[in-house]
Amino acid sequence: MTSLTHSEVTDDFAEDIKLADDITGFTAKAKDPSTVSEVFLTGATGFLGAFLLKELLARGLVVHCLVRAADADAGLERLKATLGTYEIIDDVDLDRVRVVTGDVTKPRLGIAQEAYDGLAGRIDAVYHSAAKVNFLTLYRWLRKSTIDATHEILRLACAAKAPLHHVSSTGVFQPKAALGPQAETDPTGPPEELPLGYTKSKWVSEQLVAEAGRRGVPLTIHRPGQVWGDTVSGACQKNDFVWRFITGSVQAGLYPRKFRLEMNMVPVDYVSAAIVASSMNPESIGRAFHEVSPGTLDSEEILRLVRSVGYELKEVSILKWMKAVSADVNNSMFPLLRILMDQESGEVAVFADDATRAFLNGTGVGCPAIDEKVFAGYVSYFVRHGVLPDPML
Ligand SMILES: NC(=O)c1ccc[n+]([C@@H]2O[C@H](COP(=O)([O-])OP(=O)(O)OC[C@H]3O[C@@H](n4cnc5c(N)ncnc54)[C@H](OP(=O)(O)O)[C@@H]3O)[C@@H](O)[C@H]2O)c1
Repeated sequence: MTSLTHSEVTDDFAEDIKLADDITGFTAKAKDPSTVSEVFLTGATGFLGAFLLKELLARGLVVHCLVRAADADAGLERLKATLGTYEIIDDVDLDRVRVVTGDVTKPRLGIAQEAYDGLAGRIDAVYHSAAKVNFLTLYRWLRKSTIDATHEILRLACAAKAPLHHVSSTGVFQPKAALGPQAETDPTGPPEELPLGYTKSKWVSEQLVAEAGRRGVPLTIHRPGQVWGDTVSGACQKNDFVWRFITGSVQAGLYPRKFRLEMNMVPVDYVSAAIVASSMNPESIGRAFHEVSPGTLDSEEILRLVRSVGYELKEVSILKWMKAVSADVNNSMFPLLRILMDQESGEVAVFADDATRAFLNGTGVGCPAIDEKVFAGYVSYFVRHGVLPDPML
């Protein structure tokens, strides 16, 4: 424990947020986003990225997707597998998907020079959703890849003279309720106060991007809350922290009484639609957006929703719940118990999204509520995918 604390204390954030000199401002070649026809997307084999791909394709765009794969065919298979898992493969036109194999942490994103130059000539916007989303890793293990990836994605934007739409996180704000609702323009960090290596890495990345913005790189920053399932198909990310908590509780048949868990859960269909809709407005450049739900979901509401679909959970003390979960290595929450305890003892940040909602006004994009019907859709998805038992059996 002492060595973990030591390694976090010695992180040099001031050094890490220094942006390389070669990243300089430019005027976007497509000044009107409605004229954009080809875009670049990272992270499409991930949860939010798959839904961003769906949104971008729904607007008739050609989407070049950076995928880690041996070749383009293998990359396309990976994309199809992701779209299949999230049950949106029938909603997308794969003919307008171009697979670019590479890696965000590598020079030129791991793309051969000729292909890179060709890509830069074609694309008019860059959507960057790729990140190593791991709550258990220390910042020091994310540091180099975060800094390298952010620089490389900015370099592509510069080479293409294309605006960057950067996916950050509300995790860049310190979890202190006393600070009041954190708005889009409020100061983020300091990184030393952010609880996870992952949230520190999101902060560092955002600082590099913001510095590029100050130098004149046209860009937007998007900070989703905790991204939850699609309100239409019910598709969720099974590694999601709150779903692991719910699944673990169902596995144990127990629920921790008076447990302090409060998070801003926001449906993925809203997050992806909001990012794409706002990026289509030239006035979005230079702004930060909060893709969050109007309220938080707390432990009592989660229990109510879980019971509403038919699971019978016995409320027990937190100690009894912990004992049951920690006695079962197969329990979904087993690897995340320490983080859950930090969550319980820590504070919760609250977010404001007035500016984001005002900006989206008139686009038809709004945040759906996570009610019993939506929650039942999420559970059905997990039942179909063998993650949760059928509550009716
Ligand atoms: N999920 C949330 O609740 C949440 C909340 C706020 C913000 N965010 C942000 O939203 C974004 C997407 O999150 P997510 O939940 O969709 O994550 P995810 O499902 O874990 O997907 C991550 C994506 O990033 C890609 N990636 C990671 N390292 C890469 C690399 N070196 N080169 C190329 N691609 C790489 C992954 O590719 P592989 O398939 O090859 O691994 C995958 O496509 C992230 O920036 C995250 O920080 C997420």
